[in-house]
Formats: sequence, structure tokens, C-alpha cells
Amino acid sequence: MSPASDLLASTLADADFHPRLAQQRRLYEAAKSAIHQQQLGAGNKLPSSRDLARDLGFSRNTVIAAFEQLAAEGYVTSAQGSGTYVANLPQLAFISKASVATGGEAEAQLSKRGNDITAFAAGARYEIQPFAPGEADFSGFPFKLWQRLQNRLWRDARTDLLDYGQSGGYLPLRQAITDYLRISRSVKVNVGQVLITAGTQQSLDLCAQLLADAGDTAWVEDPGYWGARRVFQACELALRPVKVDADGMSLSEDDLATDPRLIYVTPSHQYPTGVVMTLARRRELLDVAVRKNAWILEDDYDSEFRYTGRPLASLQGLDTDNRVLYMGTFSKVLYPGIKIGYLVVPNALIEPFKIALYDLQRPGQLMVQAALADFISLGHFTAHVRKIRQMFGARREMLRRTLATALTGQRARISSEESGLHLVVELPDHVDDTALEKLAMESGIHVRALSTYYLAPPVRRGLLVGYAYVTPEKITHYGKVLASVIQSGCAEVVPPTCAKWRSQ
Ligand SMILES: Cc1ncc(COP(=O)(O)O)c(C=O)c1O
Repeated sequence: MSPASDLLASTLADADFHPRLAQQRRLYEAAKSAIHQQQLGAGNKLPSSRDLARDLGFSRNTVIAAFEQLAAEGYVTSAQGSGTYVANLPQLAFISKASVATGGEAEAQLSKRGNDITAFAAGARYEIQPFAPGEADFSGFPFKLWQRLQNRLWRDARTDLLDYGQSGGYLPLRQAITDYLRISRSVKVNVGQVLITAGTQQSLDLCAQLLADAGDTAWVEDPGYWGARRVFQACELALRPVKVDADGMSLSEDDLATDPRLIYVTPSHQYPTGVVMTLARRRELLDVAVRKNAWILEDDYDSEFRYTGRPLASLQGLDTDNRVLYMGTFSKVLYPGIKIGYLVVPNALIEPFKIALYDLQRPGQLMVQAALADFISLGHFTAHVRKIRQMFGARREMLRRTLATALTGQRARISSEESGLHLVVELPDHVDDTALEKLAMESGIHVRALSTYYLAPPVRRGLLVGYAYVTPEKITHYGKVLASVIQSGCAEVVPPTCAKWRSQ
């Protein structure tokens, strides 16, 4: 066996070396790593594919495919008849230093901002398990109908729908959203004020980029939505966590002593507690925004899921000073991958926002926007909302009943808020909700600890329990499992006599 075969064979014999990759890919990785670490230096000849296949016990095709991949990426050069050689890569000296430092992989050279953005990774996905908050069941999506609407558009060969989305998005969709917001959400809006974005994240990004400078302060609800915080942090804003109580965002004297440029709120259904901001607090916030010359960003992400009574009117509808930017999304009510949301801006901001939307994002997907416009204007959207509201409402009720029965006599309490896709099981404040989250995970259940949604030290403990993804057949079973996890968690930590509820 040649030294090169020997080297590659010993790397491949290590069961931890990329165990899940196919043989060809493992060989490619082994050779690449040897080249990076200069165990195979520039100009070294690799064994022939026939010899290497024999030495490793691989098929020759596997070796040839790995060599081809290495050649395509410039790691090796092959000349007909004379063999395969390690290439002379000028950047290799640099890469190899980084590789030594990081155990073989090239170090990611991120900016400071890049490092900050990626440090958190809250969106890292686990396998979806029962009660995962934020996950919905898409089995109710009207696939056939959607396909018909799309097909018709493609059949009509609308070349105008193949272009970038200019002027704030597809006009009939903006009109359909305008009508919907006026009627269902009491938003004061003309079609010109509605911009189609790729969802709330992008709406928030535009707001932060256009309305605030690095170092400016953003007030954010605490606990609150991590997605909004990530955007503000990436725009180098200073976050000021503002406490949320039973009436919504609650401004202290200390908060009022600061000067926010942006105020991010979810007044219809505070994320994640579900609290509805009272009228008095809404008026107070609007007054403060005027006094401070700040912009309010109203994220109305799931008002369609209100299970009793009419949806609440928006904060924007109360605004008489053009201080509120209102945003919504089709992520929850249709499906997240549709990547369509809307941003309603005051008149004075229409032009700058249109310019920035186009210059920064180059929006597109007009075909999808057009299908959605038809979906709404033909009445299918209202019917779909009604259907899934019923479906999720029934699941919520079933979960609530199961947990309420199983937790009778316990100090855990189910929050009473009546909307959204998750409910919150509130825990006595001595209970470590993150430990409970782990315990639940061991039982195959994915819930999230309320304390992890805080920037400041947590005021309340609890678990977010999503019910939208769990089928009714599973709710009762997993609900009982969850209840027993909660019981054991509450019992284990301190004796019951020490239990005390924290006031909000
Ligand atoms: C508070 C809040 N806002 C917005 C969104 C959705 O945003 P997007 O339109 O970017 O999918 C979510 C999704 O979980 C959310 O929880």
C-alpha cells in the first residue's frame, strides 16, 4: 500500500469520520482534509484509482467519482495517462493554518456583526415533536384549489408576472390586503400604503434600516419575540427590554427616561405570553411615541387565530399621528414557506420604503402574489381561516382540558388567553422551566421554557405548549405525558410549602 493509500485508509477507518456520508463523499473528505493539513503536499502524486480502490476495498467508480469532485474544486489536477496530483493552491497556506486551529475545517472569517448574528441561532430546528411551539399542521391547506389558481396564471402566460416586483408588490394583492385589513383589523389604510414583503422578518429589517441608526435604542417587549430582536441587533440597535404584565407592555420610569427610536410590540396577542394590550396602555404608548418622536412597529402576526369573539382592533387604527407601522404575515395562516407578508406605512414613508424595498431586496414571486390575490378576492382566504381556526381551536380546547384535568391540585396554571397557536403553562417561580423543557424532551415532547424569551432576568416561569401541529389523537396521550413531566418538575425542586406565585 502506498503512503497516500495508507493515510486515506487510516482516516476512513475512523468510525467518527463523517459517519453518515456515502463512501465516495467520505473519500473526498478524507483527501481534502489531508490536502488542507498538507499531509498530501502540492505536487504529490495520488495512487491510481485502480490501486486506491483495491487498497480501500472500494469500487473503482467510487474512487473515480471522488477524484472528479476533488479535481472540479481544484484540489487535484489530472493529466491523461500521467496520473492525479495535488494542486498547488496559493490559498492553502492560509487555509491550513485555520484548519489546524479548528481541527481540520477552515475557520469562518465572519465580521463582528456576523459573529453576533450567528451566535444565537435560536432558529436551530429540532425534529418536530408534539407541542413544538410555532409549528402548524398544513394538512388543511387547499392544495388542489391553489394549484388551479396557479395553473390559470401560468396558462395565461402573463409575462408581466415574471419580472421583479416593483412599486411595492402586485397591486391586486395590495388591494385585497387593504380591504381585509380595513374590515377585519380596523387598520386605517389606503392601498398605496401597503407594501408586499417577504414576511415579517423583512418588514422589520426595512423598518430598522430606514428608521434607526446604529446605536439608537429599540424598546422590545420582555419576554418577547427573538426574531425581531435578531433583526434589531443585526442593525446594531441597542435593545431595551420593557416588562410585560397582564395589560401588555408596561413602561417604568426608567424606561421613560430613555429615548427609543423604535418600539416593537405585539399588542393583539403578545408574543409569547398571549396578553392583549389594554386600551389604556395602547393610548399611553401612542402618546409616548409622539412625545419621544419614536416609531411604533406593530407586529400583528396571528390575529386570525382568535377563538372567541371578533379579532381585536389594531393599534394602528387608534393612531392619529402617523407613528405606527403595521405588519402582518401569511406565514401562520397559510404556510411559512410562502414568504409573503405586508407592511403598512404612514403616507410620508411610502416612497422611501418602496425605494429601499426594491434596492435592498429585489422582490419577486409575482406569480405567487397573483395567486394569493385571487385566493383572497374569491373568498377562499376567509373560508380557509374559518376552517383552520376551528381545527386549531378544537385542538387547543382538547389540550387545555387534558392538562387542566391532569394538573388539578398542582401549582401549575394554564394561561387564559384565547388566541394564538400555543398556550402557556405558568409555573411557580422556584421551578426551573429550562430543566422541565429538557425533561419533556426526554419524553419525546418539545415545549419551550418561558424564561428563555427574556432579555432581562426572567420574571415568570412557564412552558410554551404548541397545539397546532399535534393531531387530536395524540393530544390526549401526549398531554398526559406532559402533565406528569410538569408534576414531577414542580414536586422535585422544592417542597410545596415554599411555592409562591410571583406577581406579574
Ligand atoms: C411574533 C412573530 N412575528 C412574526 C412571525 C412570522 O414572521 P415571518 O413572516 O417572518 O415568517 C412569527 C413567527 O413565529 C412570530 O412569532
